[in-house]
Amino acid sequence: MKTAIAYCSKAHGNTRKLLDEIAKNHEVTLIDVLRLKKFDLSGYDRIGFASGIYHRSFANEVIEFAKKNLPKNKEVFLICTYGVPCAKRYNDIRKILEKKEAKEIGTYDCLAFDDFGAFELVGGQAKGYPRQEELDGAVKFFEEL
Ligand SMILES: Cc1cc2nc3c(=O)[nH]c(=O)nc-3n(C[C@H](O)[C@H](O)[C@H](O)COP(=O)(O)O)c2cc1C
Repeated sequence: MKTAIAYCSKAHGNTRKLLDEIAKNHEVTLIDVLRLKKFDLSGYDRIGFASGIYHRSFANEVIEFAKKNLPKNKEVFLICTYGVPCAKRYNDIRKILEKKEAKEIGTYDCLAFDDFGAFELVGGQAKGYPRQEELDGAVKFFEEL
């Protein structure tokens, strides 16, 4: 099963920590969408999109990458980290998946350190997250896909 994960982890590297844990013991191509805008995903069986949540959404860079590079009819999974759970966090990326007739096969999300906006005044919240527990959760999610 050839798997690629396109990600944006531009605040603290929180999301990347989950992906590094997955990549420790699994063959997976990690694509940093801040570096690569174009990537041929046609040879991959499963494609993940991973992002911190910025302004209640996956990063625009991930959404643009998916628009440009996701072939039609692929199996797709979603991973994200956030400071405060928000029901809308998958909405924007899902609009692209719908257009691409993707089959969503799973989501994993967890709390992670957040010092955006008002949280900066108190030195951030969710300090120490993602913990090993959240990293293990991401690996389990990936293995059970
Ligand atoms: C510009 C900005 C906007 C953010 N907006 C939200 C938000 O709307 N909801 C939320 O739960 N967390 C928000 N956060 C917190 C991030 O989602 C959280 O820190 C996440 O783990 C960042 O992932 P990363 O380190 O992989 O970039 C925001 C952070 C930044 C820097």
